[in-house]
Formats: sequence, structure tokens, C-alpha cells
Amino acid sequence: MNLRTVSTTPFNDQKPGTSGLRKSVPVFQKLHYLENFIQSIFDSLEGIAGQTLVVGGDGRYYNREAIQIILKMAAANGIGKVLVGQGGILSTPAVSCIIRKYQTFGGIILSASHNPGGPEGDFGVKYNISNGGPAPEKVTEAIFARTQEITEYKILEAADINLDRVGSFKLGTMEVEVMDSVVPYLELMESLFDLEKIRQLVTGGNFGMCIDSLHAVTGPYARAIFEQRLGAKEGTVQNGIPLEDFGGGHPDPNLVYAEELVKVLFGEDAPDFGAASDGDGDRNMILGRRFFVTPSDSLAILTANAHLVPGYQDGLAGVARSMPTSEAVDRVAAKLGIDCYETPTGWKFFGNLLDANKATLCGEESFGTGSNHIREKDGLWAVLFWLNILAVTGKSVEQIVREHWATYGRNFYSRHDYEEVASEPAQQLITELEAKLPTLVGQTLGNYEVKYADNFSYTDPVDGSVSQKQGIRLGFTDGSRIVFRLSGTGTKGATLRVYLESYEPDVSQHQRDTQEALGDLILLANEVAKIQEFTGRDKPTVIT
Ligand code: G6P
Ligand code: ZN
Repeated sequence: MNLRTVSTTPFNDQKPGTSGLRKSVPVFQKLHYLENFIQSIFDSLEGIAGQTLVVGGDGRYYNREAIQIILKMAAANGIGKVLVGQGGILSTPAVSCIIRKYQTFGGIILSASHNPGGPEGDFGVKYNISNGGPAPEKVTEAIFARTQEITEYKILEAADINLDRVGSFKLGTMEVEVMDSVVPYLELMESLFDLEKIRQLVTGGNFGMCIDSLHAVTGPYARAIFEQRLGAKEGTVQNGIPLEDFGGGHPDPNLVYAEELVKVLFGEDAPDFGAASDGDGDRNMILGRRFFVTPSDSLAILTANAHLVPGYQDGLAGVARSMPTSEAVDRVAAKLGIDCYETPTGWKFFGNLLDANKATLCGEESFGTGSNHIREKDGLWAVLFWLNILAVTGKSVEQIVREHWATYGRNFYSRHDYEEVASEPAQQLITELEAKLPTLVGQTLGNYEVKYADNFSYTDPVDGSVSQKQGIRLGFTDGSRIVFRLSGTGTKGATLRVYLESYEPDVSQHQRDTQEALGDLILLANEVAKIQEFTGRDKPTVIT
């Protein structure tokens, strides 16, 4: 076995975004591209020699090749041991769980989350630190700085490791342990939820459910948990076999991309409960019979009902949501008398709050919910949380949501995405809007009076770090909000996200259609930001 040192030159586009480095597969396949980034990770992490890392991915195209390269580079860089999921498969929550359980130095996750896969699809690399969470900005900045000065990388010339067989192998002096992808994760779920109670609900004969893994990473996890452990009938998990191109689909659990599941839950003989997860298993969408639960409402409802679930029955230290997420959870926190933190978009911002025990539950409008059990959002965890609440209360999803609105009022909420628009005008839209902000405060726009208008800035209450320009907020005196941001996870052009929210205390208005209830705000958003002018689009590509 030969240790090779390979000369290389920097790529100028290796700056990690909202969630790691995400590019199309052909970009990652460029000579030295993946290697440069991996070497930059190793170079910028002090004290990594001799340590243990976790490596796994969501099974998308290029996953296996990338893992072999990473293993050989890890061996050449003096890493002590690598834990790899069988077949190279590990969901993002499972990686976080394994890092914490085995107290490893960190982990590398190969995924582009909800972006499509395949030879022309996307691929991604994300580094997680020893708390199990995404690397904070100071770490990703150091990695990026290293990519800009890299001159060589190290790799071992060796045969590939057999990733399909569980067991221990040697690569040079480094140990590689190929482990069952599901077991540690299932054990963690056992410790948080009343699986017996859920089993009774699921096997009781009066309850039907459908789980859609969208041919992505959660297939093996969902089958082990729902069909085997909880006794749901075979076929409960649909699209349960991970495929390299996700069967040509878009592994994003929302009403548009999880259309097969939506058809089932909104069809004739709709079951009681439906859920889907994304490519790497950290997102979730919850559906009842002919009923959609917005992610913002889901966070509020989990918070309000957490005392019903064993892992959270002693109460919550606090909750946190990303800034564009609706304020529904704020109302629950106020009633419970706990703190509610507002962070920028990106799960990494929750890490410090969870570590410092300031927050127990966290969530984002982008179909992410999670807790202090790991340091990533967790799709199947959210599904089990909901099932636990259904099992304890005996109520339907719709009943739980409607009762919640009746107690707290309803936050009508929707996100409008303008995907793959030209980058420059999109940036210009934000710049012009930002310049206009100081003049807007106090003005009346249509029926709305502007209470505040700013570009959101966040000071981390734990380490004092400041993150600026995290999204333009227009807040109105009646509690409505419009937020504008450019996505940090897209790989083609720019994606403009417009988040719309209004508050309705009157129960008689709660059955209104969301888009209709937000109609005036939608028009206002277009007008104030000149969306059509800058994007050339007269309507969004995706509405969630
Ligand atoms: C990923 C991140 C989330 C984020 C979402 C949308 O899933 O983990 O934290 O909310 O992407 O990010 P974006 O920048 O595209 O709005
Ligand atoms: Zn994801």
C-alpha cells in the first residue's frame, strides 16, 4: 500500500452554503475536486490525527465512490478509525446519533439533502463536529480558507473496502468498521417514545398510515421502525428502497414533490396518517386524512403536547425556530412560560442553544423539526412524535390541529419559491429592497402599517457570534410578516423565497384557504419587492 501525495490547485467555488458544500455531480467528479475539499477539512481540524470519524451518505449517485476516496484519504491523513454505514448508507440524523453515542471527533455526511440525484443531479459534503451537529460558521470558514490555498492532498493507494459486509477492516493502519445503519438510531427512538403505545394504535385495526421514503435514505429505517418494530402492515412504507437517482424524483417532502403520498392521503379511502422524509432523512412532512400540517404548526403542536411523550414529559428548557418560521410556536412558549429563540435559517444555529440547554425542541418552516436528542433535524423522530401524540390522545391529526388553533389562534402561513431565477437580478432585488427599508417604517401599505423593516441580524446568546443579513423582514402592526431571502442551498442560479404570515384569532375564520387568507400580503410582497420585474416570473414555482 502506497501513500501518495498529489499536487493540486485550488477551486474558487468551495465555499460551504446553508448546509455544506453542494454542487452538481459533474462538478464533484472534476479531477481533484472532492479530494481538495476533503483534504481541506482534514487540514483545518486541529488534533484530528488518531481520532475516530463517522462517514455515510444518503445513497445518491457517487455516494459509494466518494466514500472509497474519503476512506483512503482518511487513512493517508492518519485518522485512527472510521465508522461507516453498511452500503455507505447513513441518514443525517443517524450520523448525528452515532457521533454522539460513540463520542467520535466528528463525521462526514455525503448528501445534497432534498436536491435531485443521479449523474446530472446534485451531490454534497457536510462536516459535523463532535456534538453531532453541523459545523458552525467559524469551522466552515476555516475549511473554505484552506480550499483557497491548498497545494496537495494525501491518499492511500489501496483496494476498495467492501461496504456491504458488516465488520472491521484495515486500511493501512486505520480501522474501518462497517456497521448496521439502523440499530443505534432505533435504540435512540426506543428511549424517547412509547413505542408500545404506538404499536397498539398501529395494529389496533382502526388506524391506517402511509409512509413515503421517496426512494431515499429513510427506506431501511422506516421499514425497520414502522413495519417491523411497530407492526404496521407490509407496504406501509412506500418507495422504501433507496435508489441512486431517487427513482427520478425530487426527494423533498412537500405537497408538490411528495405527490404520490399526497394522492393517497387526499384520495377516496385515505388513511389516518401520512408522512414523508427527504433525501437524507432529516426533513418531514406530516399529513392527516385530507389534511396538511404546516411545518410551523407542527413545531407549535409538538411543543404544546411534549408532556405526553416520555422523552419530554419533564418539560422543555425552551424552544427555537428559524426567523422565517411562523410565530405559532412563540404563542405556545409564552403560555408555557419558556424562552423562544429566533435564529437565522440553517440548523447549525440551533447547536449552541441545544448544547447550552436553552432549547429542547427546534424547528424550521423548511420541513425540519428536531430536539436535543441529536444535533440535526430528524424526519422519522417527528413522525414518531406525532404518532405518540395520536396514540395518547386518540384524536385525529386534523382534530389536534384545529383544537390547537382554537386555543392559540391560527398563524396562516405560506412560502413562495421562485426557483432557478437569474442570480444577478435576484441579488439586485434584495439590495434595492434593503435600501428602501428605512423609508418603510411607519408607512401604510394597502391595509397594513409597517411596524419594523430590517435585514435580520442574529447574535448567538451562547458565544456572542454575530450573523448579519439573514433575510429582509417586514413586520406589520397586526402581527403579519413578509420575509424575503435568497436560498443558500440551491445549485442553479438563485432561488428567491418569500415567506408570508398573518395571525387570525377568530375561530370562525380558521377554515379559510391559506392562499386566500394571505392574498393581500401576497400582492403586497410582489409590489414592494418588484418580484415580477426582477425575476421575470408572474408566479412562484413552488408554494408550500
Ligand atoms: C437545509 C438546512 C435548513 C434550511 C433549509 C433551507 O435543509 O438544513 O436549516 O432551513 O436547508 O435553506 P435555504 O437556504 O435553501 O432556504
Ligand atoms: Zn435533508
